[in-house]
Amino acid sequence: MNILLLGSGGRESALAWKIKQSDKVANLYVAPGNAGTHEIATNVNLSATDFPSIKQFALDNKIDMVVVGPEEPLVRGIYDFFQNDPDIKNIPVIGPSKEGAQLEGSKDFAKQFMQRHNIPTARYKSFSLPQLDEAYKFLEELQPPYVLKADGLAAGKGVLIIEDLKEAKAELKEMLQGMFGDASKTVVIEEFLSGIECSVFVLTDGDSYKILPVAKDYKRIGEGDTGPNTGGMGAVSPVSFADDVFMKKVEERIIIPTIEGLKQDKIDYKGFIFLGLISVQGEPMVIEYNVRMGDPETEVVIPLIKSDFVSLLVGVANQNLKNTDLENDDRFAVTIMLVAGGYPGDYEKNKEITGFDNISDSLVFHAGTKLSDGKVLTNGGRVIAVTSYGKTKDEALAISFKNAEKIEFDKKYYRKDIGFDLK
Ligand code: AMP
Ligand code: GLY
Repeated sequence: MNILLLGSGGRESALAWKIKQSDKVANLYVAPGNAGTHEIATNVNLSATDFPSIKQFALDNKIDMVVVGPEEPLVRGIYDFFQNDPDIKNIPVIGPSKEGAQLEGSKDFAKQFMQRHNIPTARYKSFSLPQLDEAYKFLEELQPPYVLKADGLAAGKGVLIIEDLKEAKAELKEMLQGMFGDASKTVVIEEFLSGIECSVFVLTDGDSYKILPVAKDYKRIGEGDTGPNTGGMGAVSPVSFADDVFMKKVEERIIIPTIEGLKQDKIDYKGFIFLGLISVQGEPMVIEYNVRMGDPETEVVIPLIKSDFVSLLVGVANQNLKNTDLENDDRFAVTIMLVAGGYPGDYEKNKEITGFDNISDSLVFHAGTKLSDGKVLTNGGRVIAVTSYGKTKDEALAISFKNAEKIEFDKKYYRKDIGFDLK
């Protein structure tokens, strides 16, 4: 098979690494990819949202499957673009339809979906600018802190959690007046939930499903979960509190109703469902849906899958997932993100990265990197993910921390407390 993978981050590096191991794969292309995917696949200089060029590339290179890494092409409808074009209709796209991608693309859509299908989530109401007074009243009914969410995609920045009512009202008004552009023309206000979060990944062919290893990511830049949010500073899998009792509740109350809900609503969905969950005293609630794999969660989840991953993806495409095996590794995997100093604020790029050859006992997944004159340079805030296995979480962490030291670039930073809150 010839596979085209869309995206350029650590998630795509991990997916490419795994896809390439399959003996089903003849050629793997990554668009646009990074310096890491260049080593294992063929990078293609195309944007993941340039659908006409992707079509042409797919035809010219006899692509048999398109795997979509990030949310943006999905929310923009790449699945439907392929489905509706007779020339490429037969090339399966792993990812939901445009309507299905609304589970991530619109928080209001996701909340309505959960309400309609009785899926546990925080109490909420949605408002636009003409309803400002009603929105203020709803805020007054809630207890602090107040959770304000831009309805649309806002590059992970669209959620504000505010202690003070007056400040929440002021921020709400600014959001509705366009703080996040069109994304915040509608704002979801919801009840604050207190608990510990985890990420559950489900692969579905629209009918049956497989639950992938559960992970926890660490979003804040600072140790002890302090400071601004990032794309994710590290991840651990499995997650101690997501035990069999918890996961049974997740499956019965969330996963099955989600898959059944998609069917009832006639939403075409063949791809990954990422459930951002919170355990409120042992009871799982949905914080958010995403329609893709998480980053950096993929860098721990994928290495824990022992089965042939391409067979699973073919099972999705052919709606035959239930007859496809999923076997997982029983070890722990952890990943530590090495980021550029200053991230998630301003940071510099084009710093040379060295030390790769000194590492033999971790998987090194590139995120924001590029190749220039034979050198690997930093090209983003999150630069390298160092993933390690261990019989325990701490054993895996010790290996990743040791190797995080060996990779060098100017102003490298990483959190040294990943996994601190898990048993
Ligand atoms: P989201 O983009 O919806 O995942 O929100 C970003 C982060 O805000 C989540 O990962 C949570 O840490 C936090 N968050 C979102 N909604 C709530 C809520 N209702 N209660 C508590 N924390 C929340
Ligand atoms: N790590 C969270 C995300 O990918 O959205």
